[in-house]
Amino acid sequence: MFQSKIAGIGFYVPEKVVTNDDLTKMMDTSDEWIQERTGIKERRYGQKHKETTATMGAEAAKIAVKRAGITLDDVDFIIFATLSPDYFFPGCGVLMQRILGINGIGALDIRNQCSGFVYGLSIADQFVKTGMYKNVLLVGSEFHSAGLDFSTKGRNVTVIFGDGAGAAIIQPTKEEGKGILSTHLHADGEHAEKLAYINPGCHTGVHLGKEQFGYPEDEYGGAFLTEKMFKEQDIFPNMDGQFVFKFAVTKFPEVIGEALQKNGYKPEDIDLLVPHQANLRISQFVQRRLRLRDDQVWNNIQKYGNTTAASIPIALCEAWEAGKVKDGDLICLAAFGSGFTWASALIRW
Ligand code: UT7
Repeated sequence: MFQSKIAGIGFYVPEKVVTNDDLTKMMDTSDEWIQERTGIKERRYGQKHKETTATMGAEAAKIAVKRAGITLDDVDFIIFATLSPDYFFPGCGVLMQRILGINGIGALDIRNQCSGFVYGLSIADQFVKTGMYKNVLLVGSEFHSAGLDFSTKGRNVTVIFGDGAGAAIIQPTKEEGKGILSTHLHADGEHAEKLAYINPGCHTGVHLGKEQFGYPEDEYGGAFLTEKMFKEQDIFPNMDGQFVFKFAVTKFPEVIGEALQKNGYKPEDIDLLVPHQANLRISQFVQRRLRLRDDQVWNNIQKYGNTTAASIPIALCEAWEAGKVKDGDLICLAAFGSGFTWASALIRW
């Protein structure tokens, strides 16, 4: 069995900065409310007609590949995590593959929302450990701004999310005690609709009641999107924020503790915790619960908002670029999000 490591990381965020004040021109919200409840000051929005989830992923991937000291031709497998894909199908993995010109290798799309990058890291780790692949390209990318509700009705969701992409190359390592020490994956579908983008889909009301969506009786076709959905603007993501918040602050410490315990470490041993950037208040709560110092936790939600599957690789990459992820450091990644899904990874860098 090989041990695997993150050999190179990169991130890409679109140029366009959207401040909280910019959002007040579209919906009833305020800079004060957003900063107080989430810590977010601004986020980036992709350029429509030019950028997509796949194109942003490709930009991040090129940087990760270069930093890993390989070429695109060396990549032997792709894992792409997103909840905001370019198409309903096929997935973004093949679209990014086409952009990068590395057709022929396998491309796997995964749908684990905010936990997507850690789930993807775990999958890559298994492939590398068994010797099946040597250079797995793992990407988390989101183009949220294309699918958000910019009316006041959608404000609780819309103000949180931003666009961007992060990427990593996972390779085998022979360095004793280094690399990905363990990954821990969890899910609980009980509360699937508490944070969800339900339409379009083939559910035809099975989980929530047919009447709610106005499906025609006993007809084939035309059930992904109905007139009622459009009329009632039931075509955007929804979130029960307080409910999600309560779960998040329980599951983050739990899954971090699981990773530490598995490897015989304590919170004080962590050099850097890179939590999924869900909400600054959640990160601060987790930090307090684990009694971590400020310099042990990396947050950048203030600048980018919540970029879901991209948030951990963007944060990890920024921390690395700032010299906060050094050779031999103990790095903990932790995520919680829609599904619900939650996950962690412990890495000796
Ligand atoms: O990454 C995936 C995981 N997601 C999360 O972890 C998100 C977890 N949840 C949260 O971060 C928080 O629940 C939010 C930031 C989304 C919301 O904060 P909250 O303190 O839970 O607010 P709330 O939803 O309870 O709403 C409080 C009030 C309501 O008004 P009333 O009913 O008290 O009059 C909302 O209508 O704030 C109102 N509100 C807003 N006001 C201004 C909701 N969104 C906004 C807004 N601007 N954007």
